[in-house]
Amino acid sequence: MHTRLTRRDLANIAGSSTLSVCATATCEAQSQSNEANAPSPARKFPDGFLWGTATSSYQIEGAWNEDGKGESIWDRFAQTPGKIQNGDTGDIALDHYHRYKEDIQFMKALGAGTYRFSISWPRIFPEGTGASNAKGLDFYNRLVDELLANGIAPFATLYHWDLPQALQDRWGGWMSRETARAFADYAGYVTEKLSDRIQHFFTFNELRAFIELGYGTGEMAPGLKLPAAQLNQVRHHAMLAHGLAVRAIRAKARTGTKVGPAEDIVAGVPVIETDEHIAAAERYTREINAGYLTVMLEGKYTDAFLEAAGANAPKFTTDDLIIISSPLDFVGINVYVPKYVRAIAPGYQPLEFSRWQFGPEVLYWAPHHLVKLWNVREIYITENGCAAPDEPAADGVVYDSDRIMFLRNYLTQLQRATAEGVPVKGYFLWSLVDNFEWIRGYGTRLGLIYVDYATLKRTPKLSASFFQVTATQNALV
Ligand code: FCB
Repeated sequence: MHTRLTRRDLANIAGSSTLSVCATATCEAQSQSNEANAPSPARKFPDGFLWGTATSSYQIEGAWNEDGKGESIWDRFAQTPGKIQNGDTGDIALDHYHRYKEDIQFMKALGAGTYRFSISWPRIFPEGTGASNAKGLDFYNRLVDELLANGIAPFATLYHWDLPQALQDRWGGWMSRETARAFADYAGYVTEKLSDRIQHFFTFNELRAFIELGYGTGEMAPGLKLPAAQLNQVRHHAMLAHGLAVRAIRAKARTGTKVGPAEDIVAGVPVIETDEHIAAAERYTREINAGYLTVMLEGKYTDAFLEAAGANAPKFTTDDLIIISSPLDFVGINVYVPKYVRAIAPGYQPLEFSRWQFGPEVLYWAPHHLVKLWNVREIYITENGCAAPDEPAADGVVYDSDRIMFLRNYLTQLQRATAEGVPVKGYFLWSLVDNFEWIRGYGTRLGLIYVDYATLKRTPKLSASFFQVTATQNALV
């Protein structure tokens, strides 16, 4: 039933545009003829490169209080009037909790060989700690089995911002070291149960975003505006939680399980690609990420970071730093906007001249910096994508040519990196499907698949065809 619906939708798009998402016999024939038109080797990605999409639990699952799930800080925050545009909440979201099979058929039709999703901590431990909820884990068992049955490798994020509300109430969430310990227990439990079928786990999604916006400006859940000293401590606790989780996963998961972060690196892009500006962009990248990737990968806070924090610097022990910098198997980075940097004596200057969100070179420079600064050997682009004013045309199709333009330009820069030997192993586009975009609610669309929120009907956009051709040919066409 679900499959038929999917194929009809996909075929509709195929009929009304020059590209097609491949789910039908006609479409398979077209893809073969595309292969005859093989792309130039200069546009190819490395063999075995993984193509997938990314989502997160709160943004798509819905079923916010079903099957024993506990409340999360995002349930509480979004249900509080005035916090989210248009009063939207993730209570129902895309109802992916019940429609995951249909969504997996869309992934298959996209030619995606992998999928990044997140596990909702309060589904597994409704109170954050203590008794586990078997029905919550069962959902992820079903999801993972269905992905594997369709030839899609699952990559799971353990924390994409939906902290159990119980831990916010009990300990102030990340204000306490207790939450870091609880996270490690949850990470060990989940990976012990799922690592027979999932090989790659991300500890945290975007530490920077949920800490700065959730505990600094208060724009996001849990909506706190902490003074600098407390904010630095929150950040340190979350970093510690990352390291403790890495250790718990090593202790509990199957041998061979891989672990790393999915962090929103701020990446300096040399405004002109000459040696001096490139060196300035590297220095900038190391310092601007000092509280996050830099301490995780170097095991120390930089001198400049500690000097700038002064009396508000986080309180930490040598042991904490050893834990935070526990060895990783890979580094995932979410890459959206560039920060152009120019060299000036004696340092660098980030250029704030533009609010323009488009800067494709960042997808070349961000992974490049990981190698140059920290010698990272396995990299995933865990998110990249753009919002667009997607609305169906009279024929029902969303012609999101601006998203295709964005993707073609960004992926050209990623291909440039892999062609030079930068070890990027896979790319996850944000997002599979339009979803709950945090404080912007449902008004901001980032999916390859359009959602009619009145009916929850999913319809692939034109960009889905672009993704399918790229993934299938493992090249830019
Ligand atoms: C990232 C988030 C993700 C999504 C995209 C657009 O910062 O990790 O959940 O909202 O932005």
